[in-house]
Amino acid sequence: MSKEFKRYLITSALPYANGPLHIGHIAGVYVPADIYARYLRMCGRDVFFVGGSDEHGVPITIKAREAGCSPQDIVDKYHNIIKKSMEGLGISFDVYSRTTSKTHHKTASDFFEKLYKEGKFIERESEQYYDPQAETFLADRYIQGTCPKCGAQGAYGDQCEKCGCTLSPEELLDPHSRLSGATPIKKKTKHWYLPLDQYEGWLREWILEGHKEWKPNVYGQCKSWLDGGLQPRAVSRDLDWGVPVPVEGAEGKVLYVWFDAPIGYISNTIEALPDEWEKWWKDSDTKLVHFIGKDNIVFHCIVFPSMLKAHGGYILPENVPSNEFLNLEGDKISTSRNWAVWAHEYLEDFPGGADVLRYVLTANAPETKDNDFSWKDFQTRNNSELVAIYGNFVNRAVVLTHKYFAGRVPAQGSLTDLDREVLGQIPALREAIADNLEHYHFREALREAMNLARVGNKYLTETEPWKVAKTDLDRTATILNISLQICAAAAIAFAPFIPFSSERLAKMLQLKPEDFKWSNIRENILPEGHQLGEAELLFAKVEDSVIEAQLGRLARIKAENEAKAAAQAASQTPVEPQKDEVTFDQFAQMDIRVAKVLAAERVPKTDKLLKLSIDTGIDKRTIVSGIAQYYSPEEMVGRRICMLANLQPRTIRGIESHGMILMAKAPDGRLTLVSPVSETPEGSTIG
Ligand code: 2FM
Ligand code: ZN
Repeated sequence: MSKEFKRYLITSALPYANGPLHIGHIAGVYVPADIYARYLRMCGRDVFFVGGSDEHGVPITIKAREAGCSPQDIVDKYHNIIKKSMEGLGISFDVYSRTTSKTHHKTASDFFEKLYKEGKFIERESEQYYDPQAETFLADRYIQGTCPKCGAQGAYGDQCEKCGCTLSPEELLDPHSRLSGATPIKKKTKHWYLPLDQYEGWLREWILEGHKEWKPNVYGQCKSWLDGGLQPRAVSRDLDWGVPVPVEGAEGKVLYVWFDAPIGYISNTIEALPDEWEKWWKDSDTKLVHFIGKDNIVFHCIVFPSMLKAHGGYILPENVPSNEFLNLEGDKISTSRNWAVWAHEYLEDFPGGADVLRYVLTANAPETKDNDFSWKDFQTRNNSELVAIYGNFVNRAVVLTHKYFAGRVPAQGSLTDLDREVLGQIPALREAIADNLEHYHFREALREAMNLARVGNKYLTETEPWKVAKTDLDRTATILNISLQICAAAAIAFAPFIPFSSERLAKMLQLKPEDFKWSNIRENILPEGHQLGEAELLFAKVEDSVIEAQLGRLARIKAENEAKAAAQAASQTPVEPQKDEVTFDQFAQMDIRVAKVLAAERVPKTDKLLKLSIDTGIDKRTIVSGIAQYYSPEEMVGRRICMLANLQPRTIRGIESHGMILMAKAPDGRLTLVSPVSETPEGSTIG
């Protein structure tokens, strides 16, 4: 028998406030957590759903430095963007706060202090990298150098972004500080460590014996960490951004971001419920569930529980339903490569479209393995499921009721076997959805909810009440009554998943907020004679042009990334050595000038050549140039270019070419036109 809990404390990973929210975060963490919270509330259970921004850590300081502003400016900006996106997506947090809040600093500081005073940490001196010029310790990310694995320049002290390998600063060739360019030196520094090795036995028992029900991906990762043996982990850093270490002599040191962030769940609860937060965090009748992505498993299953255990008095998570990753059009989502669908952009491009995204991301959630988001799939799920099944069913039922019964729920007459079978699906599916939700199987739960709409849609199609109405209005009444009961059941059953649509359907069916109880999903929700509201379309078709626009955006990003990668590769190819010296007179003999391209066409049967008609200011002439792989004829017309005008004419492919267009040739061979940076008339000389 599983334990009955009095209340549910649901947390969702606090996103770093150094970038906007993307579909990977939404699918992996926020939508499943929200579905769970909404469902439990509808079951009448006591729920507190915690969110907030994670505003500390080295990447935020780097972003601030690059932007020329303070870390506080960065987190203010992204906290607001993220918070607004969460609201737009209908994530029903009971609190959404931030780790720069006063309450959080105090809570995290007190937490550390208690452990410190009780001797729960070990103190260790270690050698860390230090920038002797900037006079500061350097986080791994602040050190750059050449990757020992692939030879790329600009690899970071923790990772090479080119080949993706994990690194330590020691491995970098020619390491230098990103702050001053100086070569880092090693310097002794003191830090506090949580001796995770001392918690290993307890963790093995608690997780490996006590929580065999955790998802296999979560359980498996924990087991492999535990089997590998745990080491003490530093919980402080030499950094000037974060919660200061509350120990004398610890100036310039802050709590490690992964120490303070999970305490943020507690701080945010304290901030919202100052008088009753303890019952949520300290009473064993509270069920604590952490929703996270798979990169957070070790922190939520091993580190944070060890912190809570060391502190004492706190409850531990009952479950940590972590998801895998979501890819985008077959490629890993990447903030630095801008390879993402950003929540705030989606909400702008698809006003009122939050539910469609929630639906698609749940239907395709990376619950057991990495999954892919594609815009084609988005369109198909919207058009063939939401519009064609759910929307179509509801619309037909409501419109027909208005047509034949003045919008009032008609009476149910005697039932056929089919009627009984269809009505029986309502409680059966209610139980199936609930069972899946209780076990964090959100995809399957949504499929069962859609089955309710499927059952209704099929029933209407098979019974054809619009035909029956010509001969038998009593039978029509029964069919529509049953259809409307399914509509109402669907409105309630879909509410945790696509709440905005359920609200709109509630208006059509004139359901009240208090009707939205899980137990109300039954055969007879709407009484006979109940007046319906106006019919409206629940979902709109997504047209091909909309999908093409999104795919076009991604194609442009891909092209930009490829160009950047090529430029980076080129910058790493050795440059050509200098040519033999020339005299000034030799140089002065060259007539280099600005010319305008009047017309351009490809030279037939060649890949590389364009034939250009140009105006040199002195005359109009023809030049054949080998730039066709880089510039189309259309791009060339009207451009001002630079040319060597007094080069002896040559015949190329039977065309007399008089002069040469100047091009910059990158070390990897790519050509780029050279032209004046501001408007300069043709004929202007260069020298
Ligand atoms: O991975 C992340 O985005 C972290 N900011 C998650 C922190 S979860 C919790 F500990 F706050
Ligand atoms: Zn590399």
